[in-house]
Amino acid sequence: MSILKKHAILEKNVTLLAIFAFLVVTIGGLVQIVPLFYLENTIEDVDGMRPYTPLELAGREVYLREGCYVCHSQMIRPMRDEVERYGHYSLAVESKYDHPFQWGSKRTGPDLARVGGRYSDDWHVDHLRDPQSVVPESVMPKYSYLEQRMLDAGGTLQSGHITADRIGDIMFTNSLVGVPYSDEMLEMAAADFTAQADPDSDYDGLLERYGENVNVRNFDGQPGVSEADALIAYLQMLGTLVDFSTFTPDASR
Ligand code: HEC
Repeated sequence: MSILKKHAILEKNVTLLAIFAFLVVTIGGLVQIVPLFYLENTIEDVDGMRPYTPLELAGREVYLREGCYVCHSQMIRPMRDEVERYGHYSLAVESKYDHPFQWGSKRTGPDLARVGGRYSDDWHVDHLRDPQSVVPESVMPKYSYLEQRMLDAGGTLQSGHITADRIGDIMFTNSLVGVPYSDEMLEMAAADFTAQADPDSDYDGLLERYGENVNVRNFDGQPGVSEADALIAYLQMLGTLVDFSTFTPDASR
């Protein structure tokens, strides 16, 4: 019997066909998926990646709560038009500490994966307060209330606030799913949180724990730590952790 004739048996018996199709798909799937469980270097490690500081993490929580991801992606694809507009394509390692990740595909507004350092803090304050004041044709909603929602000791606590004393819990939860927050980082969470938004504070410990490149500024230009401070600290860090002037992709993997 020729091979084609044997195949005709499969084509005429739907149950047999289903069984063989299932086998083929299973083997194909296993060949693709199983090696990933045994590769420790599926995600290439790159210098500079660090867990988010308490203030940045709080800003990320605000970003999630406000649904910024509905209009903004955070993944630059390796295509020429994207790279020319937004910068180096996103690396897997850059979203390693994101739970959940913010890649997305909906872009009513621009990709934000490398928005850090592109604008001044003042620009962000104006833009969040009233996007149309800086980009007249913008359809982005106004977020002026963020600068009135205080997160440090002076603020009145309202539901949904990610305050200095709650950020440690959120960091602890992140550590449960693999973000390497040390005991010291968890212990100092509240202090680091307020220190990053106050350039007059003693922020040496913060820099020691998270690195020299952490931005310490009064992001929203007003006294106290507001949700705008946290959100702008987060935005100004996005895409800046890996130094692409020295980074070379490791082609051997
Ligand atoms: C309804 C859709 C929409 C939502 C929701 C939205 N944005 Fe935007 N965003 C836009 C559009 C459109 C632009 C481009 C025009 C402009 O700059 O305002 C933009 C621009 C931006 C920019 C400037 C990016 C660049 O490279 O020029 C930043 C930063 C930004 N948004 C942050 C945010 C943050 C933070 C949130 C959540 C608090 C948010 N956006 C929510 C639509 C949105």
